[in-house]
Amino acid sequence: MNNFKVDFRPLLLLINIGFVICVLFFCYLIFGDMLAPSFQPDPVVQKSASTSSGNSVDDYDKVVDGIHVQTGLIYAEGFEIVRATCTACHSAKLVTQNRATKEGWTQMIRWMQATQGLWDLGKNESTIVNYLAKHYAPTEVGRRANLDVAAIEWYILELE
Ligand code: HEC
Repeated sequence: MNNFKVDFRPLLLLINIGFVICVLFFCYLIFGDMLAPSFQPDPVVQKSASTSSGNSVDDYDKVVDGIHVQTGLIYAEGFEIVRATCTACHSAKLVTQNRATKEGWTQMIRWMQATQGLWDLGKNESTIVNYLAKHYAPTEVGRRANLDVAAIEWYILELE
């Protein structure tokens, strides 16, 4: 009779191993997300993290030949206010590629206030307009001024 006794130990061992695997698997499901970061390499901090314009962060206040490198704006009285105000919504390029008189700049500001949500500039407005009209004034290479029709002496072209 003794010879027919079934040995359950291998089966119990298998069940045990299966149980341990199940426990480990559930632990993985529950805590896996927490553990994952510790197996990843540390992020490498680049020494000169670059900005969208390709300049390094160190260039934030860099001025070369009177031009503020990061914005391209002329570095002069009123620059800080203009930078703070006029680069909030768009690139400073929109400013630097334009030329206008005081009236022209004021008109552009009014237009942005009326249609683009530019806020009231208060006492900064005169500083800003002065800076713009001084450094971004119309030049000869820009668009020519409108003809003064009344001042033109008209003549009849005689064709023989
Ligand atoms: C509240 C957001 C905002 C601020 C602040 C702002 N602008 Fe603008 N500006 C705009 C928008 C929007 C446009 C239109 C952009 C486009 O057409 O792509 C624009 C366009 C312009 C243009 C181009 C106008 C044209 O006729 O093409 C100039 C120049 C300009 N802005 C100058 C300035 C100056 C100078 C300042 C600082 C006083 C300033 N902006 C501040 C929103 C703003």
